[in-house]
Amino acid sequence: MLFSRMLRSIWEEADDIRRLSCALLDYWGDLKLMEGTSIRLRPLDERDLDAMYRWHSDTELIRYMQAYQDPPITHSQIEKRIQKSLAGSHDRVDMIIESKDGQRAGVVYLQDIDYRNRKAEIGVIVGEHDQQGKGMGTEAVEMILQVGFERLSLHRIYGSIDPANVPSIRVFENLGFTRDGALREDWWANGQPWDAIIYSMLSHEYFARHERGN
Ligand SMILES: CC(C)(COP(=O)(O)OP(=O)(O)OC[C@H]1O[C@@H](n2cnc3c(N)ncnc32)[C@H](O)[C@@H]1OP(=O)(O)O)[C@@H](O)C(=O)NCCC(=O)NCCS
Repeated sequence: MLFSRMLRSIWEEADDIRRLSCALLDYWGDLKLMEGTSIRLRPLDERDLDAMYRWHSDTELIRYMQAYQDPPITHSQIEKRIQKSLAGSHDRVDMIIESKDGQRAGVVYLQDIDYRNRKAEIGVIVGEHDQQGKGMGTEAVEMILQVGFERLSLHRIYGSIDPANVPSIRVFENLGFTRDGALREDWWANGQPWDAIIYSMLSHEYFARHERGN
């Protein structure tokens, strides 16, 4: 009896995970342009290789991110990420941020999508320096939250941020994320360990915020 209950619960859980990962495959199947108020998002593709490489090797730009690599990132690592995205990866969604007139400005993504625990990590880079500070990062995060909560039925979306990364902290706080806490010496870059602050949003917080219209 106990054994059959256990089997059933394992089966139901597997079914749940399968259902959620199918949601991502369906999502990839009809992944299109998303129109925002002042930006649009489109799926990452091969045309973005050089820009992605440029952003990810700009040490000033990514100095607060785990994308900071020592030794520096290579073209082929970026190429693999693009191929993974194009193949309809189960564990990540990458969208290019464009201005309304089609100028490429950055990338926003969900990574480490974990269906068992219904969570994913969010990341954003407004890679073109002259496009920063215009609200693009905030709107891009807002739009990828919509993908995570409304399309993929995730329960928790979180960001891991260097405490010195003021613009990033402002983005997460302005959008209503909660500061969960800090992780001491959580990641390693440039020959030293770095702390991380974790900000998260839960699905009911996202939907409550949207019902209120903010
Ligand atoms: C973090 C980042 C994505 C923000 O994007 P953005 O489009 O420049 O930001 P927004 O215009 O939406 O502004 C968001 C907030 O940051 C603030 N901000 C932007 N640039 C800033 C700067 N240089 N210094 C201090 N605050 C800044 C804005 O004032 C705004 O806060 P407010 O509304 O409370 O005034 C962008 O700075 C970036 O790409 N940084 C490098 C990569 C990175 O660290 N990504 C985050 C990893 S989680």
